[in-house]
Amino acid sequence: MLRIVVCVSGGGTNLQAIMDAERQGRITNTEMIAVISNNAKAKALERAAARNIPGIVMSPKGYPDREAFNAAFTEKMRELAPDLIVLAGFLVRIPPQMVAEFSNRIVNIHPSLIPSFCGVGYYGLKVHEKVLERGVKVTGATVHFVNEGMDEGPIIAQKAVYVEEGDTPETLQRRVMEQAEWVLLPKAIDDIANGRIAVRDGRAVSC
Ligand code: GRF
Repeated sequence: MLRIVVCVSGGGTNLQAIMDAERQGRITNTEMIAVISNNAKAKALERAAARNIPGIVMSPKGYPDREAFNAAFTEKMRELAPDLIVLAGFLVRIPPQMVAEFSNRIVNIHPSLIPSFCGVGYYGLKVHEKVLERGVKVTGATVHFVNEGMDEGPIIAQKAVYVEEGDTPETLQRRVMEQAEWVLLPKAIDDIANGRIAVRDGRAVSC
């Protein structure tokens, strides 16, 4: 049974997709032990509570400096002892010591086809604004392992989504969520929980 902790910051639609997939049997062999949010008002925490998943609020704002937060956040994660940490719209940088301790056991969903439109400053709606500004015809989402870089870890899976005439950042974000994020993340978790993903020579491979 894969113990999972999900980290969130906002609406929690990706968290909802994971919980629904578990309930419908599209994710097996997992146990969601907690949801951690840096935002006490995150709707994601309400979604977790509705499924009786313990919610924990931890924000850098609650600590004298980032180092103190990183130490406390990493200590909390050690206590929870997950097999997999899932970043589902989590907007706080993962502490380097957590990346090291949970090497290849942290996954993130990013709303673009990495390496396009990712890295510092590319999150949430901003990603889709830049996609429309550049005029690309195809975007999508990527689920990847988290390493010490920003959106640079081994790519587990990607899914393309067409940009449509008249798209706004909001309509495009919604389509990328519906057609890509909410499909990719549950599938990746199920694959990891059932031993179908490995990392070899820095690449995520099916096994
Ligand atoms: C969305 O922009 C999603 O693309 C990204 O995080 C944001 C919030 O997602 N992964 P959620 O509704 O909180 O899952």
